Amino acid sequence: MAERVIPLLDQRHVDTLALRDAPPMVATGLLGDTLGRPLRDLRISVTDRCNFRCSYCMPKEVFDKNHAYLPHAALLDFEEITRLARLFVAHGVQKLRLTGGEPLLRKNIEVLIAQLAALRTPEGAPLDITLTTNGSLLTRKAKALRDAGLRRVTVSLDGLDDAVFRGMNDVDFPVAEVLAGIEAARAVGLGPIKVNMVVKRGTNEHEILPMARHFRGTGIVLRFIEYMDVGVTNGWRMDEVLPSADVVRLIAQEMPLVALDATRPGETAERWGYADAHGRHAPELGEIGVISSVTNAFCQDCNRARLSTEGKLYLCLFASRGHDLRALLREGADDAAITSAIGAIWGQRTDRYSELRNTVGAPTQARVEMSYIGG
Ligand code: GTP
Ligand code: 5AD
Ligand code: SF4
Ligand code: SF4
Repeated sequence: MAERVIPLLDQRHVDTLALRDAPPMVATGLLGDTLGRPLRDLRISVTDRCNFRCSYCMPKEVFDKNHAYLPHAALLDFEEITRLARLFVAHGVQKLRLTGGEPLLRKNIEVLIAQLAALRTPEGAPLDITLTTNGSLLTRKAKALRDAGLRRVTVSLDGLDDAVFRGMNDVDFPVAEVLAGIEAARAVGLGPIKVNMVVKRGTNEHEILPMARHFRGTGIVLRFIEYMDVGVTNGWRMDEVLPSADVVRLIAQEMPLVALDATRPGETAERWGYADAHGRHAPELGEIGVISSVTNAFCQDCNRARLSTEGKLYLCLFASRGHDLRALLREGADDAAITSAIGAIWGQRTDRYSELRNTVGAPTQARVEMSYIGG
C-alpha cells in the first residue's frame, strides 16, 4: 500500500481562511496575537531594488543582472499603501517605517510620505513616520522628504574607513557621500537620526571604536546590529556574528557606558548611555544601542508587521510566507473585509523565530529575503 502523508496543517487553507473568510472584526486598537503581542509598528517595503550589494543582504552573485526584480504593476501603488496603512493604524499601529531595498529609489517617494503624514491615530495623534536608507541619495532628497512630512531617518553605515565601506557595499560607493547625506538630513531637521551598523566578525569589527568615537556627542544614535541569518542567500555563519556583549565591552573600556531603560515596549535595541566622570549618563554625550537578534532574542514583545513591495503581509522578519493583501485590494474588498482579514491574520500570529533559532522547534522552510520585506 502506498504511504499516505497527512499534513498537520494545510497552510494554503489557513491563508485563504484568514484572508477571505475572516469573521467580521471592528478595529479597536486592542488587537493581540496568540502571545498577547499588540500590533504597533508597520514596516513598508516600497521597492525590492537597491544600488548597493551588501554581502549580508543582496550578495552580488545572486542579485546580478539576471535577477528578476518585481515588475512595476506588481508593486502596491501609493493609494494602495496609504489605504492599507490607514487600516493598520485603526488596529493600533503608531509607527510607519519605509524600507526597501533602498526606499529612496522609489520614484516620487515624497508623494507617498505626504499621504502617510496626513494619517492620524484614533486619538488624533500623528504617526511616527521614518525611513531606513543607505544614505546614498540623501544629499539630494533630504529637504523634499522633510517638506513632505518625514520626521526622522535611520541611515545604514557599516564603517568609516573608505576601503572597508566600499568593500561592504560592494559597489565601491564612497563613505564621504553617506556622511554628507547624514549631514544633509541633520541640516534640514530630520531627527533624531539613527545610524545602523551591521557588525561582521572579521570584516568590520575594527570599525566599532572609530564609529563610536565619531558619533559620540553628536546627537546621532549609533546602533550595532548582530549579523543575522535573514534570507537564504547571504551564507550566514555563526562564527561571523560578534555578540553585542563584546561590542559593549569594547566601547566601555575606552568610553564608559551605563545601561538605559527602554523608551517603549518591544524596542529592538538595548540602550547604553555614555557616562560622565561620576558614572552617570551624560545626555550631551548621547547613547548607543545594540540589536542582538542572535544572542538575546527580543521576540517576546515583537509588535512589528511587514508589508512587502507587492503587498504581502509578513508577521516575522524570518517568515517564509506572507498573506496576500494585494489580492484583496485588487478584488475590490471593502475596508471592513480588509480590517477583518488583518485582524484574523494578526490574531493567529505565533512567530518568534529568533527565540526558536537554535531549538528543535525552529522553522526550517526557506526564509524571505530582507531586500524584499525590508529590515
Ligand atoms: P526605531 O524606532 O528607530 O528604534 O527603529 P527600529 O529599531 O524598530 O527599526 P530599525 O529598522 O532601525 O531596526 C534596526 C535593525 O534591527 C534592522 O535593520 C534589523 O536588522 C533589526 N530588526 C528590526 N526589527 C527586527 C525584528 O523584528 N526582528 C529582528 N530579528 N530584527 C529586527
Ligand atoms: N543582518 C543584520 N542586519 C541586516 N540588514 C540587512 N541584512 C542584514 C543582516 N543579514 C540591515 C541593514 C540595514 C537594514 C535595511 O537591515 O544594516 O540597516
Ligand atoms: Fe541595500 Fe540596505 Fe540591503 Fe545594503 S542592506 S543591499 S543598502 S537594502
Ligand atoms: Fe519579531 Fe520575528 Fe524578529 Fe522575533 S524574529 S523579533 S518575532 S520579527
